[in-house]
Amino acid sequence: MGTENRIASRESSHAIGFRSVTPEQYEQTLTAEGTIPSWLTGTYVVNGPAKFEAGDRSLSHWFDGFGMLHRFQFDGDHVHYRRRFVESGAYTHARDTDTLGYREFATDPSESCFDRAVSLLAPPSVTDNANGPLVRYGDRHVVTAESPGAIEFDPETLATVDRITFDDDLAGQISCAHPQYDPLTDETISVLTRIARQSSYTVVRIADGEREPISSIAVDRPCYMHSFALTPTYVVLVEFPYVVNPFTFRLSDRSFIEQFDWRPERGTRLLVFDRSSGRLLAQPRMDAFFALHHVNAFEQSDELLLDLLTYSTPEIVEAFSLDSIRTDRSSLPSGRLRRLRLTIDDWAVSSRSLAAHPLERPEIVGHRRTQPYQFVYGVGKRDTGSFYDRLLKVETTGSTTCWHEPATFPGEPTAVPAPAPGSEDDGVILSLVLDGSDERSFVLVLDGETFTELARMPLDHPIPYPRHGQYYSTDEC
Ligand code: CO
Repeated sequence: MGTENRIASRESSHAIGFRSVTPEQYEQTLTAEGTIPSWLTGTYVVNGPAKFEAGDRSLSHWFDGFGMLHRFQFDGDHVHYRRRFVESGAYTHARDTDTLGYREFATDPSESCFDRAVSLLAPPSVTDNANGPLVRYGDRHVVTAESPGAIEFDPETLATVDRITFDDDLAGQISCAHPQYDPLTDETISVLTRIARQSSYTVVRIADGEREPISSIAVDRPCYMHSFALTPTYVVLVEFPYVVNPFTFRLSDRSFIEQFDWRPERGTRLLVFDRSSGRLLAQPRMDAFFALHHVNAFEQSDELLLDLLTYSTPEIVEAFSLDSIRTDRSSLPSGRLRRLRLTIDDWAVSSRSLAAHPLERPEIVGHRRTQPYQFVYGVGKRDTGSFYDRLLKVETTGSTTCWHEPATFPGEPTAVPAPAPGSEDDGVILSLVLDGSDERSFVLVLDGETFTELARMPLDHPIPYPRHGQYYSTDEC
């Protein structure tokens, strides 16, 4: 192999992160290379797609892959690793029958015209494939899906405890992938989207096992909303012009996400709700843009500041199709950290870029959520081309620190504060990193302040690229 080929194959080696995991059952004790801080004694859990087919049927999109939890329990110089699939209805159907039984994000079970005709009469269920964020519903640990489905799991054994259902008339609506847990009020806020003759967004509060609406607003064309903004006083839905026609939604033979169209002429609408009364306070409009992930939002004097990672179009969704992500290094668009500034008295909105570097999979330290904050962590990449190949620490003033190692591809960072932290970045950053040259994964521990490596714990094989992670201190699980 010539040098050029060798370089090309090394650079595209992130594709090992989009293969089904083998073996499915696995436990291993990993040994630290380096020094793990003695206070780091909790458990790091990541969730992500880890099986990309049902029988001989390949799934289409990264978000379609069946969710698997991976648990890393810190124990001195060692980390105990274990994994387990989230036992959603969609996963167990695929496992037990070798067929696809649910409508996934971008793959529909109907393959033939006959299937499609039948499915119009008895549509297959929308997936409950919970391969997304790890959140809290009160004291229940939950993983969520791009659907109404959410699944409670045991952070110790990773066993599926329960498929979450609510005894209310909001059932059947699409639930935002990123509900937000507010530790100050011990409640989780989420957004439900109804795609029907009378479409709506409903902001809900989940506490004590119950879900109650805070506010609801009718919409003509619902948008694909992966996350939203929360502050102590406000909930803000950013309605991108990536919208679905509700009148053809149930009749279409296209998959869920393929039914959304980019309509930039609509612009972006911000729906600002009072969090306690549910009153819609304002709906200022902006230029058209798209985002998957909000970063943080907070109130400061007479302004509401809202940070998110924006794209000029929703191309990022298409770029996560498995055909594209496994082979095409150059089509992953670059998200930019952008701050929207809303004046609370007249709700005028302006925006500016906070950092020059492309950024995705954002994370902040948990105790700064809904509060003024200084640091965003995330994954980055070279401006054009390449998969996410570096970890970034971005100060909201714009200065950026980077961790990078050739042919490695870090997953979403998780910020773990030190006990009684002296500063916001006093602690460690955890990330599950794919090592493309050795074809294995390792857990990386970075010093939060210097962003340099403290330790790594290599596995002997690769783990599929994760979507989201969470750290649980010893008293949490
Ligand atoms: Co997400």
